[in-house]
Amino acid sequence: MRQVGVRAVLGALVLGSSAFASIENDFSTVLKFGPRVTGTPANEQARTYLEGQLRTLGYTTRREAFSYPRFDDLGSDVRVGERTLRGVALQGSAGGEVSAPVALVPGVGTPEDFRGVDVRGKVAVVRRGQIPFAQKARNALAAGARGLIVVNNEAGELRGGTLGERVELPVLGVSSATGAGLREGQRVALSVRVRQGDVRGVNVVAFKAGVTKPQMLFGAHMDSVAGAPGANDNLSGTLAVLDLARRAANTPLAARSFFVLFDGEEDGLRGSRAFVKDNAALVGGLRAMFNFDMVGVNVDPLGVSGDAALVNAAREANPALGSFSGGGGGSDHASFAQAGVPTLFFHTGIDPNYHQPGDTVADPALIRQTVDVALKTVDAVLSAAPARR
Ligand code: BES
Ligand code: ZN
Repeated sequence: MRQVGVRAVLGALVLGSSAFASIENDFSTVLKFGPRVTGTPANEQARTYLEGQLRTLGYTTRREAFSYPRFDDLGSDVRVGERTLRGVALQGSAGGEVSAPVALVPGVGTPEDFRGVDVRGKVAVVRRGQIPFAQKARNALAAGARGLIVVNNEAGELRGGTLGERVELPVLGVSSATGAGLREGQRVALSVRVRQGDVRGVNVVAFKAGVTKPQMLFGAHMDSVAGAPGANDNLSGTLAVLDLARRAANTPLAARSFFVLFDGEEDGLRGSRAFVKDNAALVGGLRAMFNFDMVGVNVDPLGVSGDAALVNAAREANPALGSFSGGGGGSDHASFAQAGVPTLFFHTGIDPNYHQPGDTVADPALIRQTVDVALKTVDAVLSAAPARR
């Protein structure tokens, strides 16, 4: 008796995570790694864990690496006396440390605005708006400024600002509150620390051994933006794909499917673009690509968009499916649609914590419901006559 008991315990230990696998477990494990920015250790930790889960389910996994250039702000600010005021380097800005007096430019930084003030050798300050960031920067440079601060014209930090080109001037974006504290002639130390380098992304591809021509591809991006834990965007979609893989594991669907966790989505759909490019034959044979992005917070009822026939199939199979009017952001299905693959994009709307530090919540029940709907839709799609492509 005693021996059987020991064996049962050992068995459970050997089965390990698979015996207790759940969306809840995966969610708390992966969220603890922190923001999964492509190229960071947390991103790699998450991948290693998720890959392990897919293997435990009996899938073969492979990694597909790709690289691309990215501009990173390594931490930029402006110091005024003892105070350090945080800002964000505009993309394309030069790095640099400038200690100089402030020149407040009345306006948004047009050539006329600069004509009325002497900014030579100084840190010019302009308001956001009306003309592109790059023009403000070029005008400041032409007027002889050594640095530029762009003050937000709405509440909050000036995030995601981009010059769209390289300008040889340190350019910092700050909130309107920070901007309001800057005084004419006051000495400041502007510190813009940036890096332009190559980032390496890695997609995880899972399939049953021997499957090379899948009909279905289920995908989600596993990376997130800096400063956001990415619970809804997009651990929710990632766990939907993992749950699909789990529920398909011992069914015929597994032999017809690929499961892909994309990296580099937040830097411009880099992972899905690389996948489509590197797997042209496989992609050309797909009947459908299902993409899951932000399915863990119910802002809207679960909705789908994409290929008209797939949307209809999804609606027919799931009468309760919310009629989704579009308006979702860009995501990895776009790379497949561009390659001519019928796509279906699942999401539950834009939550207030989108790309924010507060993106820490996703509801496993919603993720499970999304998978229910996806599985019913797949049945409808695969039982229909093959579409001519
Ligand atoms: N998860 C978002 C896209 C999204 C937004 C899905 C709202 C559902 C509802 C995605 O990660 C994202 O941020 N995409 C970018 C574009 C991408 C090419 C960098 C976006 O929408 O701005
Ligand atoms: Zn996303």
